[in-house]
Amino acid sequence: MTSTENELLNWQLPLAELHCHIDGTTSPALALRQARKYNVDISDVTNGDQFLWGNFSQFLDAYDRIAALFRDEADHKLLTFDYLKQLSEQGTIYSELFISPCHAEQSGLGAEHYVEALSTAAIEAKEAFGIECRFIVTGVRHYGAEKVTAAAKFAATCKAPLITGFGMAGDERFGDIRDYAAAFDIARDAGLGITVHSGEFAGAEEIERTIDSLRPDRLGHGVRAVESERLMKGIAEQGIVLECCPGSNIALGVFPSFEAHPLRLLKDAGCRITVSSDDPPFFKTTLKREYEIAAETHGFTEAELVELTREALCAAFIDARSRERLLSKLP
Ligand code: HPA
Ligand code: ZN
Repeated sequence: MTSTENELLNWQLPLAELHCHIDGTTSPALALRQARKYNVDISDVTNGDQFLWGNFSQFLDAYDRIAALFRDEADHKLLTFDYLKQLSEQGTIYSELFISPCHAEQSGLGAEHYVEALSTAAIEAKEAFGIECRFIVTGVRHYGAEKVTAAAKFAATCKAPLITGFGMAGDERFGDIRDYAAAFDIARDAGLGITVHSGEFAGAEEIERTIDSLRPDRLGHGVRAVESERLMKGIAEQGIVLECCPGSNIALGVFPSFEAHPLRLLKDAGCRITVSSDDPPFFKTTLKREYEIAAETHGFTEAELVELTREALCAAFIDARSRERLLSKLP
């Protein structure tokens, strides 16, 4: 182990993340326990201590299979509390989680009950570990615009205090992004923060269309903006925040290596960047590991790492008082 790695492991740096899918935090061990509970065979998507998938489509299928193992309130509460506990053990003070009422409804749990279970877990985790958490209701692009609009309507009307954002994940090569504008209008009009997965598997043109059609505050990934100087400049000028997830991008083959990841390039181009874990056990990462990648591979100094957390807190979908309280924890 190098001395830099040694120092990193001993850090007390406060971490924050903006981009993590709650079902994607399931460990293979927990997936197996849930599979036994519901008598489901998942041997084609897990192999002992790892998930099995080859390409992005297979990953999305595996993700759906694992999400379907969480069926009642106790299941969802356990998953959320456990992840927030793990995060706080890594020194995390804030997490924003993508949640999916649509996945929950597939197993027969009403969206309100689902959100209540998650909210209880978040409140208990805050009491136990001091970690703050907010939720982003998430539509799935490849499920179609109608389902995404239904998710937006739910997010806009459900009145759960911890739901502060609306987003869209899934396959960004599916359909025409303009068909989703109505859903995002509903969410924006309700005062929710807006984030959209874009620029992970699609290139600069699709990112541009997404920005024009959906007017996001943040982009999930957005890393392929690096393909266009003009687009990077536009993103920087508009202050759109990039939720970068290097570990995810390497695992899914968006870039061939950590060295080839454009984290530093995007920062140097003036873009507001943050780091997150996306679906940590699927991509064999953790939030702490993402900060370590920034330091070890891209030479981020300790001050620059603190800036990553500061940027995440500044871009968080959270009320001003809570934001100030969190910012006051930074060195
Ligand atoms: N990309 C798109 N959709 C997703 C992801 C991802 O990394 N994880 C869960 N849904
Ligand atoms: Zn994601």
